[in-house]
Amino acid sequence: MPEEIYSPGLEGVIAGETAISTVSGGLSYRGYSIEELARHGTFEEVAYLLLYGELPGAEQLDEFRKRLKAAAQVPRPIIDALRQIPPATAAMDVMRTAASMLAHWDPDVNDNSHEANVRKAERLLAQLPVVMAARHRLKQGKEPVPAESGRSLASNCLYMLFRADPSPAHVKAMDVSLILYAEHEYNASTFTARVIVSTLADLHSGIAGAIGALKGPLHGGANEKVMDVLQAVGKKENAEKWIRDALARKEKIMGFGHRVYKEGDPRAVYLKELCDELARETGNEDLETTSDVIQRIIWEEKKLPPNLDWPSGRLYYYMGLPIELYTPLFVLSRVAGWSAHVIEQLDNNRLIRPRARYIGPARRPWVPLADR
Ligand code: ACO
Repeated sequence: MPEEIYSPGLEGVIAGETAISTVSGGLSYRGYSIEELARHGTFEEVAYLLLYGELPGAEQLDEFRKRLKAAAQVPRPIIDALRQIPPATAAMDVMRTAASMLAHWDPDVNDNSHEANVRKAERLLAQLPVVMAARHRLKQGKEPVPAESGRSLASNCLYMLFRADPSPAHVKAMDVSLILYAEHEYNASTFTARVIVSTLADLHSGIAGAIGALKGPLHGGANEKVMDVLQAVGKKENAEKWIRDALARKEKIMGFGHRVYKEGDPRAVYLKELCDELARETGNEDLETTSDVIQRIIWEEKKLPPNLDWPSGRLYYYMGLPIELYTPLFVLSRVAGWSAHVIEQLDNNRLIRPRARYIGPARRPWVPLADR
């Protein structure tokens, strides 16, 4: 038995090996810096890189896009089920249910070979945007809009939601946010997926579990909660007092702090540039100023930098996206990273089963019911 090591929340613990991404020396996916990927790449290229290990050549990218397009539909019974789910159900809960249901129609569901897992991952990448958009439209009493060939995944997400041609600026913003959200080492949801498949369960089980883990406001759910903060603050003149009071009450401000990035989240720095651009374009400069004030006060008071969810919440807001879809959008992107981890785990599996430090009562004798 190795020496007992304990770190609450597993902070600082190396829980496994990965060749997919690292936060050391700035975030990189398979050796490419996140800044370069976001500035020069497309989400499809990044998803391919995560799943296959290398950037695609032109022909490989073309084939990959064709496969995604062919898979961008969901079985009719799932659309019917989406109609039946009570309207008040959170969009993230619907995504989790849909990931689970999609398994029932997947021809490779119980095949854990590398090739089958890549095929399943590609299908989920294509299907989850269809689910998100279909559910959103059905809830509004509108029929789903099928994906259009010739559009990127980012463009189709917007098109399927609004049945309108999205502006190039919105497609770019969506594409960059998908790239930045796609992968992040051993975060809570990815680790959940790895734990699940380490029992030799299937990829869909891992993804459904990961969606459940992502939902929480300490993780992906924060991108929706940042809008609660901004809306509660209201005018920019209120920002300083509101935040100082909230911090004095020891409230956690969503979109700030990170388990790993103590000096700043590189993803948030880049997305802030896009927020500034879209805020100008959509007449939301005041909201951007409010956000800047909040950011300055939290840094002054707590030395906490913003994480990716702080700018991404605003970016989606400027794009006119419904708030309850912010975390599902995170799902559409992170399914690439989760799947890459599931594949990596199953390619070289060892059951993930840590120990717990016992802090309960010492051994004691059984007490018969009559004596209790
Ligand atoms: N607002 C106010 N104070 C904070 C915040 C915050 N957002 N985050 C951390 N702190 C404070 C804590 O209260 C604690 O203060 P103390 O030392 O006075 O008690 C100190 O900073 C350390 O914080 P921990 O909670 O121990 O840090 P941990 O590494 O466990 O948590 C986490 C990281 C969960 C992200 C935390 O910063 C948080 O809750 N942030 C808000 C939620 C959020 O934005 N999540 C998104 C994460 S990024 C992503 O999923 C893409």
